[in-house]
Amino acid sequence: MRKTEADLKVKKEFQRYRDIFEDYLEASAGLRNSGVPEKLRESMDYSLFAGGKRLRPVLCLAAAERSGCVLKDALPLALGFEMLHTATLIHDDLPCMDNDDMRRGKPSNHAVFGETLAVLAGDALLALSLEFPLCHSKNVEPHKLLRAMQIFSSAIGPAGVCGGQVLDMDTAPAANDPDYVRKIAALKTGTLIRAAVTGGAALGTDDENFLSCCYEYGTHIGSAFQIIDDILDVSSTAEELGKTPGKDAEQGKITHVSVYGMEKAAKMAEVETMLAKNSILKILPEDDFLPQFTEYLLRRTH
Ligand code: IPE
Ligand code: IPE
Ligand code: MG
Ligand code: MG
Ligand code: MG
Repeated sequence: MRKTEADLKVKKEFQRYRDIFEDYLEASAGLRNSGVPEKLRESMDYSLFAGGKRLRPVLCLAAAERSGCVLKDALPLALGFEMLHTATLIHDDLPCMDNDDMRRGKPSNHAVFGETLAVLAGDALLALSLEFPLCHSKNVEPHKLLRAMQIFSSAIGPAGVCGGQVLDMDTAPAANDPDYVRKIAALKTGTLIRAAVTGGAALGTDDENFLSCCYEYGTHIGSAFQIIDDILDVSSTAEELGKTPGKDAEQGKITHVSVYGMEKAAKMAEVETMLAKNSILKILPEDDFLPQFTEYLLRRTH
């Protein structure tokens, strides 16, 4: 297949998964909102529906399908991943963290609803991200769901996003640790992206080789994803990104660009992309969506 044809195919498949996810997100309103105070629901839905690439649910769905899980049975977990990711974004934008007033092309959650509700909407989404797949994945074998939820929950915690965000806020160790920026990225971003792939796959299989290839793939696309995020913060625009560019330098963040410079950072993203592709090619053919998606993500502009 020619390169442009392959590009078009991966783009279409990404969109197909996204459409399936968006339909489910809409359809799940009744299940998500029962008993939720109106103000809180509004704040949670504001960020959930603000757009976003839906990368984590798409990875979860694609990996689940390839592991033998029926696509629709993976939707509750895919939604769990997007809720969790959205919770981390709401908290990441708070004045006590990155102090960002724009997200997904709209004012940040706290800019609209205030800090108190933003903290609580993040907490509520995080809690619901666990409850929802546990309560609505009736067709998944219990031991497989348990494994997926173990993978899911470990991505949130102290050795996952929370730990990574703590490292991100503390620049001091970077002076003596050349690998510090990679550690930040691996925890704050990589753990969740990796969990989306591996957790999705765990819904359909307990084959250790399959799961470990997904784990490796997720690790490397997670690294590449944060490197590109750091690059785009320097090179892109608010219109393209839907968030304020230049914030990393302004806040003295340790990023791949601040440590290695643009050119070396771009090279690192290429290497991680190649490693991701090689990992998944151990279990999937070259023309499959997941291997092809690595290069699509490398070239992303937002
Ligand atoms: C932003 O994630 C936060 C990082 C981990 C870099 P995304 O770039 O996936 O954000 P959305 O979901 O598309 O808004
Ligand atoms: C965020 O990293 C990672 C999260 C856990 C949300 P960034 O702070 O670089 O993400 P953006 O650039 O604000 O989306
Ligand atoms: Mg941050
Ligand atoms: Mg941020
Ligand atoms: Mg960033």
